[in-house]
Amino acid sequence: MSNRMWGGRFATGPDAIMEEINASIDFDQRLWRQDIRGSLAHAAMLGETGILTREDVTAIRDGLKSVEGEIEAGSFTFSRALEDIHMNVESRLKDLIGPAAGRLHTARSRNDQVATDMRLWVRDTLDQLDGQVADLQLALAEKAETYAGAVMPGFTHLQSAQPVTFGHHMLAYVEMLARDRSRLRDARERLNECPLGAAALAGTSFPIDRHMTAQVLGFARPTANSLDSVSDRDFVLETLSAASICAMHLSRLAEEIVLWATPQFGFVKLSDKFSTGSSIMPQKRNPDAAELVRGKTGRVFGALQALLTMMKGLPLTYSKDMQEDKEGTFDAVQTLSLCLAAMAGMVRDMAPDLKVMKKAAGMGYAIATDLADWLVRVLKMPFRDAHHVTGRLVGIASAKGVGLEKLSLAEMQAVEPKITDAVFAVLGVEQSVKSRVSYGGTAPANVKRQAKRWLKQLAKERQ
Ligand code: ARG
Repeated sequence: MSNRMWGGRFATGPDAIMEEINASIDFDQRLWRQDIRGSLAHAAMLGETGILTREDVTAIRDGLKSVEGEIEAGSFTFSRALEDIHMNVESRLKDLIGPAAGRLHTARSRNDQVATDMRLWVRDTLDQLDGQVADLQLALAEKAETYAGAVMPGFTHLQSAQPVTFGHHMLAYVEMLARDRSRLRDARERLNECPLGAAALAGTSFPIDRHMTAQVLGFARPTANSLDSVSDRDFVLETLSAASICAMHLSRLAEEIVLWATPQFGFVKLSDKFSTGSSIMPQKRNPDAAELVRGKTGRVFGALQALLTMMKGLPLTYSKDMQEDKEGTFDAVQTLSLCLAAMAGMVRDMAPDLKVMKKAAGMGYAIATDLADWLVRVLKMPFRDAHHVTGRLVGIASAKGVGLEKLSLAEMQAVEPKITDAVFAVLGVEQSVKSRVSYGGTAPANVKRQAKRWLKQLAKERQ
């Protein structure tokens, strides 16, 4: 059998192993919508510019719509011998409309075609991910509003640092996700140029209208350099970078949920819907969804690393190596999408235990800074001296095994005679968080305001 696609130059078909290493149809078939959309735009432009006759364009358009219908209905047979989605679609078009199908590839190459398909796919993906991240933000902001005043321990070095509120903690993630969305939008903005018409690498001698194709496909403009057009995968790298950072954020939240859900912390209870039991230990409720969100992060990072590595040694312009941009990207995007959905579900169902969190908030002398601040504010001590006095009081309390608020005034005055019993007013976790009114601070009123601001903004976006 001579080669089905380029029989002219080839006397025999490929070795079976060649077909196996070469064919991408098993994974790039998911680009079918984008491929047909790109072909429709290209054909329309070829008609508009008089490169193809109206009759040919009509036949091509109707044929492509039929192919689209077949794929949609699941009746299309993808063939490995036809390598990839581009050849599979074109070959079927030829079955359906005959020789006119062969004119569709005028002034086009698979190099600009695949670059266009991939950009269209990534663009859709970025929009979808953005919507999912927004939904997670919404789940977090709703929790933040409800628990704006719920005191919990704030940590640095995973050691009790200062009391904060659960709402404040939730809003920290809303901010992180806002940056993720900004990165996704930014990637979208930069990718939104159309490579179609760059042809194999050098452009074409036909009088094409690249501005028209770009416009039909919703791109802001055509790409400016034909060599760059077919050899650029920055838009995939940027998407995977943004996805990696987002996955890292989800992983941190997942790790916190895993910790919080332990009986030792006991800060939150996960719903039955997002927990699993153990086959041997009847008491167990395992946070498997959170663990998997944390665990799947590596796949997303891996796709980014693989693509960077694949691209780094490629001379201009297209090399077949670049076909390897797809599987990792598809997997990374699907993984992130699943993790976003799981995280939104977990957050919505998660019930914080306010008593446990409040008790934990007072542990580890978390209000020591409040005492030091009081010494500065009321006794006008330099902060460094106040820090020293407080440190000594913490030492005394710790030796007695009690909290700072349990020391007597006399015990305090033995360290610093000017202390009055007014100091006791600041020695509590509620007072502590209420006092943190600085912009961005954890005071419940602040948190409430910020949560409402986010809820309003997210609702506005949804309209
Ligand atoms: N399947 C190929 C890819 O994904 C399409 C482009 C092939 N171009 C070529 N000159 N062989 O990269």
